[in-house]
Amino acid sequence: MAASPSETTELRLDPETIAAVDASDMLGDIVGLPEQLRDALWKAESTNLQPWDSPGGLVVAGMGGSAIGGALARAMLGDHASRPILASRTYGLPAWTTPDTTVLCASYSGDTEETLACYEAAGALGAARVAVTSGGKLAELARADGVPVIPVAGGFQPRAAVAYMTVAALEAARLCGAGPRMGAEIDVAADHLEQLVVEWGAESPEDSEPKLLARALYDSVPVIAGAGLTSPIAYRWKTQFNENAKMPAFTHELPELDHNEIVGWHDAPALGRFAAVFLDDSDTHPRIKERIALTREMIGDNATATHVVQSRGDTAVQRVLSLVLLGDLVTLYVAVLRGTDPTPVDVLEALKRRLASD
Ligand code: PA5
Repeated sequence: MAASPSETTELRLDPETIAAVDASDMLGDIVGLPEQLRDALWKAESTNLQPWDSPGGLVVAGMGGSAIGGALARAMLGDHASRPILASRTYGLPAWTTPDTTVLCASYSGDTEETLACYEAAGALGAARVAVTSGGKLAELARADGVPVIPVAGGFQPRAAVAYMTVAALEAARLCGAGPRMGAEIDVAADHLEQLVVEWGAESPEDSEPKLLARALYDSVPVIAGAGLTSPIAYRWKTQFNENAKMPAFTHELPELDHNEIVGWHDAPALGRFAAVFLDDSDTHPRIKERIALTREMIGDNATATHVVQSRGDTAVQRVLSLVLLGDLVTLYVAVLRGTDPTPVDVLEALKRRLASD
């Protein structure tokens, strides 16, 4: 995956070049992940909530950047999840939601209509409710109803508050009996991420892993594959390509993609430039590792580039967060190479305004 010397000089990703495009300093929010994790843990624990028992498990209701925390928390817990933990990314809750279920309503702004609908639905069903938000209508309703609120630091784009949303989901899982206490793992992961920030951040060499990946991907449509623990992270990469780099990106998971998507690569060159990225992990099933190698080989001629990216770290929390940080940096660097300010999401906000005026 080595970039040629001319590529690295033409497509520079030094701190000055990055800052010139990244006008609102999304990079600062991305590399602040270790500190945000510690702050999120402190905020979650400071609520001093006493555990309760929800045999029906946990539903994390939220959209977009606020929903991803639930999926990442589920991946981190792996076999340590003792009850169902599911995401609800729509206006309603799963049909099996009962008073035995806990519903975590996650909305950074607190004004997302789908999440507010889930909040009301959970109340009507008599489910235990918790909110994680920086304010808005959700905070207002929760306070009026005596529903506990896990606070989130203000001033972020919702997708940059991933540490807060993930830690809140882990905390909600612990409180309702669906998962163990994860505070120590989060602290260890925060220390690990600090090293990765040095290795991959703006000051890193021009051939650091995220800078090389960004140069390989900035002019193709990325198609990102995950498996098991890496599946929700593949989705995070896709959404960060969409929102940071403002480009289409798609995701699928193994082994399923070997039963359909692999065929679709046949005509890819006739339709455009597509690149494949496989997110791998030390715990990936051995047959899936074989599938990654074979799939990569078999689609290689029809892709502009194929890459296998490894998670880093010992624990599942470290490994998940390493790939989240890497994806956030790759997409930030791609935005810079494309000359696109990574922070604004104008069309997303315009759509919300139009819906609100109906
Ligand atoms: O990244 C974004 O800004 C979006 O995906 C939002 O997270 C999504 O629209 C939901 O808004 P909120 O996170 O405020 O509930």
